[in-house]
Amino acid sequence: MKGFVPTPPEVVDSMVELLFRDRPPKTSDRLLDPGSGTGAFIDGVLRWAARTGNPVPHITAVESNPRHIEVLLRAHAGNPAIDVQGRDFLLSDTERYDYIIGNPPYVSITGLSEVERVQYRALFKTARGRFDLYVLFFEQALSSLAPRGRLVFITPEKFTYVDSASSLRKMLADFHVEHLHLMPEDTFGDLVTYPTVTSVRPVRPGVTQVLHRDGTTLNVRLPEDGRSWLPVLFGSAEHQGGVTLGDVCLRISCGVATGADGLFVFRSSELDPELRPFARPTISGRELVPGTIGLPRQRMMVMPYDSSGRLMPLDQLGPLGDYLTRDDIRQRLLSRTCAARKPWYAFHETPVLKDMLRPKILFKDIGPTPQFWVDWTGDIVPRHSVYYLVPRNTESLPILLDYLSSPRAHQWLQHNCQRAAKGYIRLQSQVLKRMPLTADVVESLSRAGAETLHETDQRPNRVLVEKVAS
Ligand SMILES: C[S@@+](CC[C@H](N)C(=O)[O-])C[C@H]1O[C@@H](n2cnc3c(N)ncnc32)[C@H](O)[C@@H]1O
Repeated sequence: MKGFVPTPPEVVDSMVELLFRDRPPKTSDRLLDPGSGTGAFIDGVLRWAARTGNPVPHITAVESNPRHIEVLLRAHAGNPAIDVQGRDFLLSDTERYDYIIGNPPYVSITGLSEVERVQYRALFKTARGRFDLYVLFFEQALSSLAPRGRLVFITPEKFTYVDSASSLRKMLADFHVEHLHLMPEDTFGDLVTYPTVTSVRPVRPGVTQVLHRDGTTLNVRLPEDGRSWLPVLFGSAEHQGGVTLGDVCLRISCGVATGADGLFVFRSSELDPELRPFARPTISGRELVPGTIGLPRQRMMVMPYDSSGRLMPLDQLGPLGDYLTRDDIRQRLLSRTCAARKPWYAFHETPVLKDMLRPKILFKDIGPTPQFWVDWTGDIVPRHSVYYLVPRNTESLPILLDYLSSPRAHQWLQHNCQRAAKGYIRLQSQVLKRMPLTADVVESLSRAGAETLHETDQRPNRVLVEKVAS
């Protein structure tokens, strides 16, 4: 059952109200319910018509699951106003509808077969990157909307900010997104999708009314160039052309993925002294304990790489080479998926040691509130669940740490980062790179940079000067 999540009746009723708001249907109007499941929205439209005394428009229910089609046919047999069509909504020709309402399937690209991915990529502008089926349903539905029509969908809120949905946001810039209602997290019970009801009309874009989860409302104008809507939805003035965290950092990335931490990471106390010359202190997300500032050094990672990040030939690895070529170790390393495309003893991802082995700021990829730790010595190798940020200029480190720990930075992160379950946020590198720096931070960085002009890399100063001047 691909993506079946039934919509609760009270949510259906509020969406149907929105669909017909100021524009009650006539019997001759056409309504589409794509991915109709067992008919939650058909029932909702019938309830609405009975309650308000308005006519029922002609309803087309499109569903691909044979079991659901059977339920729909049984429930609505003999009703001329309801046409149940068993077909794939994404692969069939579309007609025009005056009203479109639905809860499209949430199926990420990983749930699709290779054939489906290829087919969808060829057909949909929005099938980009790690797309989700509901985004394609949006595209298909928008192109099926009659000139005076209205569409109301409930979907995850992710399309408002993820990079992979930027083409959908661009597409929506040709429509008027009238309303975005961020629904309670538990709308679908345990399935936390941060649902959002969106209503759209095919007329010139105008003001969008945003109803937040805390009950506050805001009237906004959505960006039209495909960038994330989040800052605007939360009322932040957009920051364009200013200096960002990405500008003053050499690198903002997630830590090293070895593909076999069990073989490369040891308790410091248990590491064979012969392997010590090849080992560096390492840290995982679990070891970054909120509320503390120290970084434990209880684990070491043996690395077949030199300090510039070059994979060393096995015969130059001495005792580490002997360890890696042991039959049992070699077999386990060979069983990693990356062994098909890389030397069998290489890490899953090549560690960028020349950037990583510098004083840096560390943080967890996910958490209830952002917290930042500092590796002042610059020798710690962060593992995959730890992100790290390396300032271009070491003198900037305390300034950036202060800024990242400030309430204004936290507020920006809360408004711009992807949300996970339990209200946690994900601190992804591409979001942090976009983080604007305030004028006072930029000034402190410039001053710190000016005092260290003898440092080899003077780029931050040039970036700051150019951006501040423009
Ligand atoms: C999230 S459920 C919603 C069901 C119903 N509209 C509701 O709100 O209770 C999405 C439905 O879309 C159907 N579906 C998935 N892919 C489809 C496709 N390509 N064409 C038509 N229906 C599809 C699924 O079988 C499922 O019933």
